[in-house]
Amino acid sequence: MALYSEKVMDHFRNPRNVGVIEDADGVGQVGNAKCGDIMKMYLKIENDVVTDVKFETFGCGSAIASSSMATELIKGKPVSEVMRLTNKAVAEALDGLPDYKMHCSVLAEEAIKAALDDYYAKNGRTPEQDASGDPAKADGDEEQKGGEE
Ligand code: FES
Repeated sequence: MALYSEKVMDHFRNPRNVGVIEDADGVGQVGNAKCGDIMKMYLKIENDVVTDVKFETFGCGSAIASSSMATELIKGKPVSEVMRLTNKAVAEALDGLPDYKMHCSVLAEEAIKAALDDYYAKNGRTPEQDASGDPAKADGDEEQKGGEE
């Protein structure tokens, strides 16, 4: 049996959505301390839907295939769904990764989450608000407003 699935090889050889989004709404970069690989995700979000996504991965083939597949999985999806994407789902969509390469798919999950964190930070919201499915519901009633007298 081949070590890597056809899908892994396909996404490694022809990665989808490679590049940079200059005016991204959320950017996330993560790295794996052990192997030194780095992944950066750019999200364009409109009306809480990921309308565009691009990535740059300086890493192994599994990391490149994982980022490519992850971008395909989240494009066009609502943020609340994207937030729940797991590395397992990415690996499954690739028809599996060898056990010792599973950590490469973790980078994809983490990079997307980091980009979402950035998006939330820029918009003054929290992921919990979206996870509850009720964006109007914050932790308290307090509104944070800056510079208003
Ligand atoms: Fe580093 Fe795959 S070996 S992400």
